[in-house]
Amino acid sequence: MTISIKTQNKIPKRISKVYQRFFFCCEWKKRYLYEKSRVGFLHFKTLFLYSPANLQFCVMKFNAEELNKLIRNRRSTFPEQFEEGKNIDDVIVQQVIENATWAPSHGNIQPWQFVVFTETGLQKLARFQSELYKESSGSKFKEASYQKLQTNPLKASHVIALCLKRDPNKKFPEVEEISAVATAVQNIYLSVTAYGIGGYWTTGGITYNEKAKPFFDLGEDDKLMGFFYMGHIAVPSPEQKRKPIEEKVIWVRG
Ligand SMILES: Cc1cc2nc3c(=O)[nH]c(=O)nc-3n(C[C@H](O)[C@H](O)[C@H](O)COP(=O)(O)O)c2cc1C
Repeated sequence: MTISIKTQNKIPKRISKVYQRFFFCCEWKKRYLYEKSRVGFLHFKTLFLYSPANLQFCVMKFNAEELNKLIRNRRSTFPEQFEEGKNIDDVIVQQVIENATWAPSHGNIQPWQFVVFTETGLQKLARFQSELYKESSGSKFKEASYQKLQTNPLKASHVIALCLKRDPNKKFPEVEEISAVATAVQNIYLSVTAYGIGGYWTTGGITYNEKAKPFFDLGEDDKLMGFFYMGHIAVPSPEQKRKPIEEKVIWVRG
């Protein structure tokens, strides 16, 4: 049912615009009939989505083998594995965040917000999180955790605070907004892997401390969902294992 960009490119330029329009209309009609059979009726939104003008963007094909490799080779890389003092270009970080924002969200509500710390901003984060930990942990205080919160950000090139800005109308349940941010973080994970950069998501330290929220421009209903540490890789992560999918999947046929 799909047409590839390749196929579209094969249309010789000399073919008149009238023919091109006809070609797109045929494809649109195929898509129309497919959608009609799939959902039983065709609603207005579908008509818009599959209009000839949008069609070419909807039908791109990708290299699934490359994608499989990327997903399965993605690894968490921790601050002690980073090449200290070597910064990632901000342009790459911007691309990574742009990819994060292309994650799905119910109603396309896009509940994520990212606060990026780099250069002396990393010291600011290190000071804030270690001191907040110290004042809030009481009898649970551990010197090693305090030290880690103080030193880890300085090993990274960039640290992204992963935030959920709750929709003021609370149109969807909170769990769906949390899920959307998590899918955005997976986009970050995959993007850094594609760029050959290391990184990991941490929910340690002050992540769930209510007092941390204002520092990240978060209100009462919003959530801090952790931090994504990024750095050039000095020591690659070892291979990982996953449980066999048979343990994780139930098929229902008939
Ligand atoms: C929501 C979430 C929170 C995590 N928090 C931590 C953390 O606080 N500390 C840590 O060492 N790793 C943390 N990780 C990374 C996991 O340790 C890592 O994903 C897991 O060991 C599997 O390794 P892989 O990412 O290389 O496949 C977190 C991962 C997720 C998804």
